[in-house]
Amino acid sequence: MANKILVGAQWGDEGKGKITDLLARTADVIVRFGGGNNAGHTVIVGDQKFELHLIPSGILYAEKINIIGNGVVIDPAALVKEMQMLEERGISLDNFFISEIAHVIMPYHRLLDKLEEERKGEGKIGTTGKGIGPAYTDKVARRGIRLIDTLDKERFYRRLTDALEYQNLLLEKVYGVEPLKAEDIMEEYREYIDIIRKHVTDTTLLLDKARREGKEIFFEGAQGTLLDVDYGTYPYVTSSNPTAGGVCTGTGFGPAGIDGVIGVAKAYVTRVGEGPFPTELKNETGDYLREKGHEYGVTTGRPRRCGWFDIPIIKHAVRVNGLTELALTKLDVLTGMEELKVCVGYKYQGEYLSEFPLEQETLFNCEPVYETMAGWSEDISGYTEYEQLPQAARAYIEYIEKESGIPVKIIGTGPEREQIIIR
Ligand code: IMP
Repeated sequence: MANKILVGAQWGDEGKGKITDLLARTADVIVRFGGGNNAGHTVIVGDQKFELHLIPSGILYAEKINIIGNGVVIDPAALVKEMQMLEERGISLDNFFISEIAHVIMPYHRLLDKLEEERKGEGKIGTTGKGIGPAYTDKVARRGIRLIDTLDKERFYRRLTDALEYQNLLLEKVYGVEPLKAEDIMEEYREYIDIIRKHVTDTTLLLDKARREGKEIFFEGAQGTLLDVDYGTYPYVTSSNPTAGGVCTGTGFGPAGIDGVIGVAKAYVTRVGEGPFPTELKNETGDYLREKGHEYGVTTGRPRRCGWFDIPIIKHAVRVNGLTELALTKLDVLTGMEELKVCVGYKYQGEYLSEFPLEQETLFNCEPVYETMAGWSEDISGYTEYEQLPQAARAYIEYIEKESGIPVKIIGTGPEREQIIIR
């Protein structure tokens, strides 16, 4: 394996954890480049299930280097909880590093996330409530606090007092809630920082060293292309760039060192939170997919909305990420359906759209145009060879390959580590 990026090709929750776990086996360094603990990656190893939110999935391999890059926003409480969970289960954190210039999610970010969603009411985004949006807002508005600012007590206090001057104005005057005290936050955060501190470093140096030594680096994406603040279904998106471009800004690793971009797509589509979803099935078929595919959020437990596979979404993901191959997950969930529909374009105000529209009113009101394909009834769970798949399943995959223009190289046939086809 060369240096590769893995991104979600849809609205997140494509099953990236499992594919990352697979690809991390051959990599030397695994890096998270964006998002925060809004993400939830499930990795199943034997009879053990790991739910990771911040730490790269490569942590499950003792000898690998795992890095959280500067593009990630870090909630120290969530990070410490995850670190302790891993250590209690015998996973070593000796090779785990965090960028010193990553921004920190503060208590006021979580508060503002909830208050702003409440204010929006019906028009809410449906965020995970983890303070992600407000933390990125402060980063861009140049009033954020970075991990490096928290390492020295005096400096942390100064930064926090400055920040609270503005944040408390917002809390009191805009939202009418009690202001926060720097002392209270310091007391809580100092404990976390003391645990995290030894992992905090200039991770660009580590990455550069790894590159020069010819080590293989794997960039693990969170969320998905359609949640990207630029290329997603704005404003129903997250506040970062989970697309491939986010790797360079989110880790300090230059584009010339990257050899390929893998897009992970589920064999159907899901979404959590609000926002347009043209192929959504608000019927028994949607309920069937949700139950059979266990489509409930890892981070918030919310039921995921389910729908048919959408080709224009994949074409969009291929373009904006420069995808070189696809990993198609959860194909086994489709077993037993008499026929499958695949969206090939949309109808909007009498016109046919063959590309994914990025304007929200169009997306809310367009009607998908479907190609109908035959289903299969053979139990494919656990198949590891492409040739074992029923003809209808192969036709489904080959149709996706033809329309997207890139090969489907990995196919998920069940939740376990070994239930996978690699072509
Ligand atoms: P935020 O990232 O918490 O601000 O949420 C913004 C939108 O992104 C909401 O629709 C969330 O449900 C969605 N979202 C954020 N992270 C994930 C993820 O890891 N998987 C799926 N959806 C996510």
